Amino acid sequence: MTDHERALHNLEDQIRTCTKCRLHQTRTQAVPGDGPYTAEIMFIGEAPGYHEDKQGKPFVGAAGRYLNHLLEKNGLSRADVYITNIVKCRPPKNRDPLPDEIAACSPYLDRQIELINPRVIVTLGRFALQHFFPGASITRVHGQVREKDGRIFFPIFHPAAGLHQPKWQPALEEDFKRLGELIRELREKEGEEGGDDYEQLALF
Ligand code: URA
Ligand code: SF4
Repeated sequence: MTDHERALHNLEDQIRTCTKCRLHQTRTQAVPGDGPYTAEIMFIGEAPGYHEDKQGKPFVGAAGRYLNHLLEKNGLSRADVYITNIVKCRPPKNRDPLPDEIAACSPYLDRQIELINPRVIVTLGRFALQHFFPGASITRVHGQVREKDGRIFFPIFHPAAGLHQPKWQPALEEDFKRLGELIRELREKEGEEGGDDYEQLALF
């Protein structure tokens, strides 16, 4: 095991045994995240739901199936991406995570980002968006590329929104299409330059 893998394993162990907020009292198990530790794309959702809490993996329920569909339709796959959530334990009855729970949990997310070092962070829903851009409105900024701290951010509606309210589906479909194009463009750029210099991307 490399030092990098060991650091991520240790972090996952810390998360699984964490008692820093009240959500540890009602969880079946914590859900640290899933995907390759070298992923170029990180997806960040809100919180584990019923199935995630049972299985210990993110996005394995209905929202996860819809996410997989949207990825594959646009030339991406779960195997390409690391997925995690703003809070790692399921809130009772899937209520929204509370500010103190987010504050207690987000150092784990920040460390995951530091270690995995993704080029692109896709935020799903408003909690993930507002962790990076406090006060930003998801209905205004979804589908728009933003840059911060040397990373590319791409905010999207939460796939569960599309499942509960079909009126959000066209926006989700459109945003995933743009994400697929963005990733293709980044990969081409990297291929051409043989390097990591994605900062002058035409999309900005
Ligand atoms: N919704 C989320 O935000 N995260 C999951 O892991 C599952 C559903
Ligand atoms: Fe710890 Fe986060 Fe779970 Fe709260 S939600 S107990 S901070 S891992």
